[in-house]
Amino acid sequence: MKETANKWSKRSWKVFPGGCLGEYNLPQDLSVVLMRGQGTRVYDTNGKEFVDFTMGWGSVILGHSHPGINEAVKKQVEKGSNFSYVSGPALELAEELVRAVPCAEKVRFCASGTEATMYAVRLARAFKRRDKIVKFEGAYHGANEFGAISLFPQELIDFPTPNPTSAGITEAVRNDVLIAPYNDLKTTARIIEDNAAEIAAVIVEPLHRCTTPLAGFLEGLREITRKHDILLVFDECVTGFRLAYGGAQAYYGVVPDIAALGKALGGGYPVGAIVGRADILDLCDEADLGQERYVWFASTLGGNPVTAAAALATLKELRKPNTYEHLFAMGEKLRNGFQSILTELGIVAQVLGDGPLCALVFNKEKVVDYRTAFNADRKKARKFTLGLFRNGIFLNPMSTKLYFSLAHGDEEIDKIHSVARKVLKEIF
Ligand SMILES: Cc1ncc(COP(=O)(O)O)c(C=O)c1O
Repeated sequence: MKETANKWSKRSWKVFPGGCLGEYNLPQDLSVVLMRGQGTRVYDTNGKEFVDFTMGWGSVILGHSHPGINEAVKKQVEKGSNFSYVSGPALELAEELVRAVPCAEKVRFCASGTEATMYAVRLARAFKRRDKIVKFEGAYHGANEFGAISLFPQELIDFPTPNPTSAGITEAVRNDVLIAPYNDLKTTARIIEDNAAEIAAVIVEPLHRCTTPLAGFLEGLREITRKHDILLVFDECVTGFRLAYGGAQAYYGVVPDIAALGKALGGGYPVGAIVGRADILDLCDEADLGQERYVWFASTLGGNPVTAAAALATLKELRKPNTYEHLFAMGEKLRNGFQSILTELGIVAQVLGDGPLCALVFNKEKVVDYRTAFNADRKKARKFTLGLFRNGIFLNPMSTKLYFSLAHGDEEIDKIHSVARKVLKEIF
């Protein structure tokens, strides 16, 4: 007998904490088990269709089960799935990254964004022989030790004191992270000046969550880090190949020393990459094992040929004419539509984002950093996301940040707008 969706969900709650793989904190009665994805849609065990606005956390940038990726992967799996060594596809992919990303002179692969930022920071620390890093409040750099510091602080404490969002992070780790306010160059400069001799790097999401950089902020960071001989690390896990083919560094014209890539690069397959200056990346050359600045970097699945084939197929599509025009047009339509609905219903909220990124924050004040969004109405935000979910929009109910793909068009954007209007009317 076919199990009901409810039975699947119960099984899921039995083995997975919170009934999910992470972050999707749906109530048990709403949670589902997915069986299939096609284009912009995902389907649960009962065949119920959702329009997907999470798209594998933004990794599935071409849409689910894209024929170009499927074909490339099928061809590769026939030839072997992992050698933990340089393969043709991995080499081609690394060469394409060097061509595409302004800071990329050399490349190392790993299997996730969490690892990519971890290695980027390790490389920076080794290169500069300094321990501290500057991270922006509210920024996410993956689930590694520093990524979970001051991610969702529940109280606002003085900068640059760190505030772990996760238990299990040692004091030693916390002591090496200085927290700064995004978009506030003056305070960030003061923190850097006060601690310059101990700081290895500043790590930043160039487009911080969905908050855009104020004019001069990234340029200012580049200038201060240069002045104090500190490395600038861009976490481009979200912005890479999304905000532009060359990522945020191409889009904003500010080139970091190292960048971490993930998500969209793999087209839905597990990927992470560290790209940057050759003199920094070369610290992980195994011939230097035992040298003072040698960096241990090992990844069983990093650069595996199946992921590399999927990534090459993804980049091939993204290089086609009008790709980014479409992504940007859809992003603009998404944000403008939300803004008109809010105006029509007399709701004060902020629509954030740029290009193919969009988030709604139920906040009166304009959002420029974590603190200006701190008093946002999170209860209403949760009602909103759960309302969207109930009405057939698949998203992460912990966040109003939406991801869409190249496959999304007017139909999907119109759908989320009409559902959003209905749900907002119910809530406000
Ligand atoms: C900016 C940023 N960096 C890093 C990561 C971590 O990537 P992964 O989940 O692949 O480890 C994420 C994930 O959401 C992210 O948004």
